[in-house]
This record gives sequence, C-alpha cells and structure tokens, in this order.
Amino acid sequence: MSIISAGKGISKYNIHIVDKKLSKNLINKYLNKDSKILIVTDEGIPKKYLKFLKSNISNKSVNIFTLPKGEKSKSYNSYKKIINELSRLKFDRTDYLIAFGGGVVGDITGFVASTYLRGISYIQIPTSLLAQVDSSVGGKTAINIPQGKNLVGAFYNPKCVLISTRYLKTLSEDEYKSGLGEVIKYSFIGNKILKKLIEENPKEIIERKESTLKIVIEQSIKTKSKIVTKDEKESGIRAILNFGHTFGHAIEAYNKYK
Ligand code: GLY
Repeated sequence: MSIISAGKGISKYNIHIVDKKLSKNLINKYLNKDSKILIVTDEGIPKKYLKFLKSNISNKSVNIFTLPKGEKSKSYNSYKKIINELSRLKFDRTDYLIAFGGGVVGDITGFVASTYLRGISYIQIPTSLLAQVDSSVGGKTAINIPQGKNLVGAFYNPKCVLISTRYLKTLSEDEYKSGLGEVIKYSFIGNKILKKLIEENPKEIIERKESTLKIVIEQSIKTKSKIVTKDEKESGIRAILNFGHTFGHAIEAYNKYK
C-alpha cells in the first residue's frame, strides 16, 4: 500500500492506494466507531462493491443514498435531497459521509459535507480512474447550476481518500479513457516518471494491470497533491491542473450536461 498526504495543518489528510480490495482495517481506519454513516453513491456502481463496502464498515448505523448516474445529479435538487436525508437520520457533527463513486458523487457529497451543520466529516472512496487521480484529491467540491459547471461549491478536504485499483476493472472503455486523459495531463504538466511509464507500458495500462495502475495513480496523485498543498484555493499554480478541463467544462455546459 502507498500513502501520500495532501493539505496543510488540521486539514491535512492521507490518500491510500492499494492494488487489491480495500481491507476492513483500512475502511474503518478513519471512521469514528460510534458515528452514523451515510454512503452516497450512484446507480452505476456495481451492487457487489456497495455490498462489500457496507458489510465491512463496523459502525452500527450505515445508510445508503443512491443518486441517478450522470452529471445531472450534481444539482441543487440532489443536494437538497441528501441534506433532507441527513436531517431525517439526525446526523450531527460527529457523523460521517462516504462518497462512493465517480467525480459526480465525490463533488456533491463533499459539498454537502462542507455545508451541513457548517461542516461534517467525509471520506472519499473514488471508483472511477478520473475520480481516483483527480477529483477525489484536493478538496474541490461543487454542484452545477444552469449558468455553468461547478459554480456553487467550496474547498473542503476529506478525512482521507481510499483508492483501490480493483474498482477500475468494471469501468466502461469511455470512462476509463477519460481517466487516462487526466493521467496524461500530469505527464504533460511535468511528471517525467509518469510520461516514461506511459510510453514504456502502454499495453499494461490499456489492459488495466493492477500493479501498473497503482504506480500510475500514485504518480498522478504525487503531482496533484504537491500542487494542491502549495495552492489550496487556486490563487496561482493550481490553475495548471485545469489543463484541458476548461475546454471540457464549456463543452459540457453547452450540451446541458447530457
Ligand atoms: N481538477 C482540478 C483541480 O483539482 O484543481
């Protein structure tokens, strides 16, 4: 297992990367055992993954909130529904949210966590390559509004990020490639080790070999964590991480996030 840290001071957190299933020990490592838990996920996440996660959490109260799959779920409406669920479950500041899914799930769960009771704890368990190498790290949380993507949000760091390459096995080819786009981004913005790794191991990467993917993810996150720790709120160097995103976001907004 490799561990990389990001953030500063009390909002510093660890990112764990494994090339096998998450262990029970790791799943429970950052949870307070008496807390209530709400796992936020989406309909695209295979049920077996959700079942495994839920059955490995030792806390007594573990609930699940499932969003429809897709960017449209990163909305004010979904935000309200999750908030209503937290208040129905009587969540207080000692309780935890777990974002279990891709970037949409991570962004909206983080935003709910940043605002409910002025901030409760959340954990990121990203299941897409894009979320593993980019959106789960750095504390950017948000929802979309009709005027544009991510226009309402907060910088709010998770308690930890738990990454398993196992989740990548069932990703569609399109989703996998969109994550690889982010990996290539890190090689373009300065990670020479990653560039070499991609150039020398294309077959292993295309075939999703877990031990290679672990190194790819590790290198990507090393670059990202260095940048987001230096410039947490994007007043300078962090903007380099938007390399490619800015065009993508405009295209998504133009197509109404379909
Ligand atoms: N995805 C760009 C950033 O985290 O700053």
